[in-house]
This record gives sequence, C-alpha cells and structure tokens, in this order.
Amino acid sequence: MKIVIVGAGRIAWHLGKRLKSKGLPVAQVISRTTSHAKSLAEVLHAEWSDAPSEIIPDAEWVILAVKDDAIEEVATAFSPFVQDALVTHTSGGTAGAVLGRHFNRFGVFYPLQSFSLEHTPVWSKIPFCVDAAHQEDVLQLKRIAKTIGNLVYQVTDEQRALLHVAAVFANNFANRCFAIAEKILDEKDLPFELLHPLMEETLAKALQDSPERMQTGPAMRGDTDTLKRHLALLDHHPEWQEIYKILSKDINPEMGITNLS
Ligand SMILES: NC(=O)c1ccc[n+]([C@@H]2O[C@H](COP(=O)([O-])OP(=O)(O)OC[C@H]3O[C@@H](n4cnc5c(N)ncnc54)[C@H](OP(=O)(O)O)[C@@H]3O)[C@@H](O)[C@H]2O)c1
Repeated sequence: MKIVIVGAGRIAWHLGKRLKSKGLPVAQVISRTTSHAKSLAEVLHAEWSDAPSEIIPDAEWVILAVKDDAIEEVATAFSPFVQDALVTHTSGGTAGAVLGRHFNRFGVFYPLQSFSLEHTPVWSKIPFCVDAAHQEDVLQLKRIAKTIGNLVYQVTDEQRALLHVAAVFANNFANRCFAIAEKILDEKDLPFELLHPLMEETLAKALQDSPERMQTGPAMRGDTDTLKRHLALLDHHPEWQEIYKILSKDINPEMGITNLS
C-alpha cells in the first residue's frame, strides 16, 4: 500500500514509525516546512516534498496529520492532485465530512491518546477510532489499526465529537488540575511527589469503578467550613477559586456553593 503522510508533527512521527515497523512503510512525507518533511522522511526512508502538487501519483492512502485548523485548507490544496486515494485525517475534534467536500474516498483515523515526541506510545493500549464514507474503506482502516494497535472502534462524526469533549475533561482538564496542585505545593516548598500516591489511587479507582461513585472530598461530604477555609487560602488566585467553586458545585449541587466567599 502506498502511504503518504501530510504533516511532520507528533502524530506524523509516531504513526509513520509505527506503520514502518509493522510492514506498512510510508512512501512519502509532505509538509509545508521543508526541513520538517525532510527530517521525518529520512527516518522513514521515504520521499519528501513541501508541495501538494508533488504527491506521488499512485498514492493509495493519504493521512492528513496536520493541526485541526489547517485540515480544511490542506484538503483544498491536495484535492486537485488526489484522485483515487483514500484520504483520512487524525483529528478527534474535526468531522470526517470536512474531507467529503474534497475527496470521493475519505475517513478518519483517530488514535485516542496524547502523543508527545519524548514518549514512546504503548500502541497495544491505544484505541483507534476509525470511520469512512465507504464500507470497504472502513474495513481497510480497521485492518490497519489492528495491525499497528489492538483496540479498534468504528465511531461516527457525531460520536467522535463528543468523545473528544470527554477526552478533554479526562486528560487536559485532569492534567491542568494536577498542574494547579503542583503550583500550590510549590508555593509552600512542598514536593509534588507528596501527591503521587493519591493521584495513582484516584486513577486506579476511576478505572475500577465509576468515578461518579468514587467521589470523595469536602464538597461531597458537605463540609462547608473546610470549603470556606480552602477558598480563603486561594484568595491570591481568584481564577483557581473559581475553578474550585465550579467543580465543588458540580460535585455537590445541594451545597449552595455560589454563596460561599
Ligand atoms: N498529539 C496528539 O496527542 C494527538 C492525538 C490524537 C490526534 N491528534 C491529531 O493529529 C493532528 C496532528 O496533531 P499533532 O499533535 O501531530 O500536531 P503538531 O505536532 O503540532 O504538528 C502539526 C503539523 O501540522 C502542520 N501544519 C500546521 N499548520 C499548517 C498549515 N496551515 N498548513 C499546512 N500544515 C500545517 C505542521 O507542519 P510543519 O511541521 O511542516 O510546519 C505540523 O507538521 C491533529 O489533527 C490532532 O488533533 C493529535
């Protein structure tokens, strides 16, 4: 299968290397920044270019691994040069239908994990959410996802849009809360490691049972005095006070938290 990756960021690097290691080598890397396209292509032993017009004519699968806001623009740039290939993007938050305006065979190949260049992904634990306009392409994408990973789901545009919102809560917001906790400790010269066992326990319990049932803390118990003390301690960080109040109210709507100061 002749695979072309468009983009040379985190997903392109990880996906390109994984495809190659599983016997699905990338034939060409195209990215707008020449040096980025070249660096990744060297690692993948692939051709490279910075121009959509130079896409190999026999491309069979084109993976648009560019930032969400650029997908439409990149699709527009490639559409005159792609006839028969299946074109997918890798975005959780972008409808596959966006590609339908430009290509006959289109779909989504979304690996639901947070990728960074420094960490090697554990592919067997990454859910691949795939979808395509044509059933034979869905099957093809499922086969590829099974080859490079283990967990494969067919997820519609509508489902994936909400899945992405849920992922922002589970990953981005949870991580932001960890970061705020780290800063709070740092202000009193306490090491973040103090919270590691608690963080591990929180995740272990949330994975074992419903997080809704696992909820503990002053808001859950209705400990108003403790809550007031916490808010007072956050006086110099009004934005964290707001987050504290919103989350506490969501945990225990009965408490009348908006009246606390
Ligand atoms: N990283 C993750 O954790 C993750 C997880 C799942 C899905 N995704 C999805 O994968 C896609 C790529 O994400 P990423 O993390 O790999 O991003 P990234 O590391 O920031 O790389 C973004 C890529 O987009 C290209 N790009 C940006 N603006 C462009 C434009 N206007 N025209 C053409 N190319 C442009 C850049 O090209 P140059 O390098 O050539 O400048 C770069 O290669 C996104 O749709 C994202 O939602 C990411």
